[in-house]
Amino acid sequence: MKLEEYLNMWTKGEAEEVIEYLAASIIAEEQGLIEVAQALKTIALEEAMHGARALVLAGRIKDLREYLKHRVEAEKEAATVRHEEASHHEEPWKTVFEYTARDEERHARILEGILKKLE
Ligand SMILES: [Fe+2]
Ligand SMILES: [Fe+2]
Repeated sequence: MKLEEYLNMWTKGEAEEVIEYLAASIIAEEQGLIEVAQALKTIALEEAMHGARALVLAGRIKDLREYLKHRVEAEKEAATVRHEEASHHEEPWKTVFEYTARDEERHARILEGILKKLE
């Protein structure tokens, strides 16, 4: 398998694992298993770091400032799409779409603040 091919498969796999471990951690929290939830979050972060290391080594992020600028737009776009999606669904999806959309807006504001400090 070519390195680029493996890299794509690997990072997608790690990303999926991150989401699944965090989903399991939410369920563990709901069941009052706080230590289990915490351990799952730790594993999720380590899985994320595996993918992150691979992307750094592959030179995927060429320029930090350019990347952050790109992410501001991507977060705003994600928010717009998610709000739009929320308008087509009933509860409980509506609320989840809405609050995650507001998180995306907040991410954009945080990144804008960081960019300002880096000027
Ligand atoms: Fe991993
Ligand atoms: Fe986000």
